[in-house]
Amino acid sequence: MSGGKAKIAVIGAGNVGATCAFVLAERKLGDIVLLDIYEGFAKGKALDMSQGAQVLNYDGTITGTSNYADIAGSDVVVVTSGFPRQPGMTREDLIGKNAEIITQVGTGIREHAPNSIIVMVTNPLDLMTYHMQKVTGFAPERVVGQAGILDSARMTHFVAQELGCSNEDVTAMVLGGHGDTMVPLPRYTTVGGISITQLMDAETIDAISRRTAGGGGEIVKLLEKGSAFYAPGSAAAIMAEAIVKDRKRFIPASAHLTGQYGLDDVYIGVPIVLGSKGVERIIELELTDAELESLQGSGNFYKSQLSELLGY
Ligand code: NAI
Ligand code: 2OP
Repeated sequence: MSGGKAKIAVIGAGNVGATCAFVLAERKLGDIVLLDIYEGFAKGKALDMSQGAQVLNYDGTITGTSNYADIAGSDVVVVTSGFPRQPGMTREDLIGKNAEIITQVGTGIREHAPNSIIVMVTNPLDLMTYHMQKVTGFAPERVVGQAGILDSARMTHFVAQELGCSNEDVTAMVLGGHGDTMVPLPRYTTVGGISITQLMDAETIDAISRRTAGGGGEIVKLLEKGSAFYAPGSAAAIMAEAIVKDRKRFIPASAHLTGQYGLDDVYIGVPIVLGSKGVERIIELELTDAELESLQGSGNFYKSQLSELLGY
């Protein structure tokens, strides 16, 4: 961020992208460029948010565009462009259409923002993050996927609801892919530093883990049109903040593994340290055999999807 004001591009001005841009502006993180294939859509949202800035008294500069030249010099690019799930669809059902979109967007980023760090959001998240890294040719630590903050936030919410305590005192840990194979880790989910395995019975923990893994689908079903965006957009903004402010946040996110947890050449949710260089560390937790088996099962599922569906 070379000492000056940060510049953050958000690709896709839809539900998640617009929410992300709004949170970035409210947190005064720098100049924001909102890019969508529909120019008027991006420009209209940017203008609306800029007027909101006046009402709410925040400083963000928000510009809407469909031209990749406008993302030049971005420190972070958050990618939300792509189709969301509809009822009855899995995230993996989105792969064909969204892979084409990511190829197009990645080409634009590679050409116009070659020094940026990319935060991926488009689903299927772990596969699209891998695809983006390949399209751009960026070092893998400069391409990271948002899922863990959201999935952990869902688990946090359910734990706090169950215990009747503040969200603030709960820290949840959800690893694995952002899909049906996600791996909530109750042993590493704490309330005031105490593992929930000491605070709840196994049946309650199991129900919370299952509701967490199905958390996105629960919202898709309720909305009947599209998928969640307030929590996902906020989670992506928090990752952009960790990068532009070099906060060294310890969070779960989709990162490229090279042997950690017995997995190689796949993007999957693991605990990382996120700072100005992107994924600065991958943390290897001590897992039980059953936990490790679940994480490896998830990683191997996405590895097979990468070869079967994307030809990697
Ligand atoms: P949306 O439909 O509201 O917005 C998507 C936007 O992408 C639209 O404005 C569309 O015009 C734009 N777009 C499409 N093709 C484009 C292209 N080639 N270049 C630039 N822009 C393009 O969808 P929403 O709800 O914002 O979701 C976006 C994506 O994020 C979906 O794939 C969804 O599944 C995913 N998602 C991921 C989450 C995560 O935790 N990783 C959570 C929530 C959503
Ligand atoms: C979610 O988890 C659909 O990935 C989206 O809400």
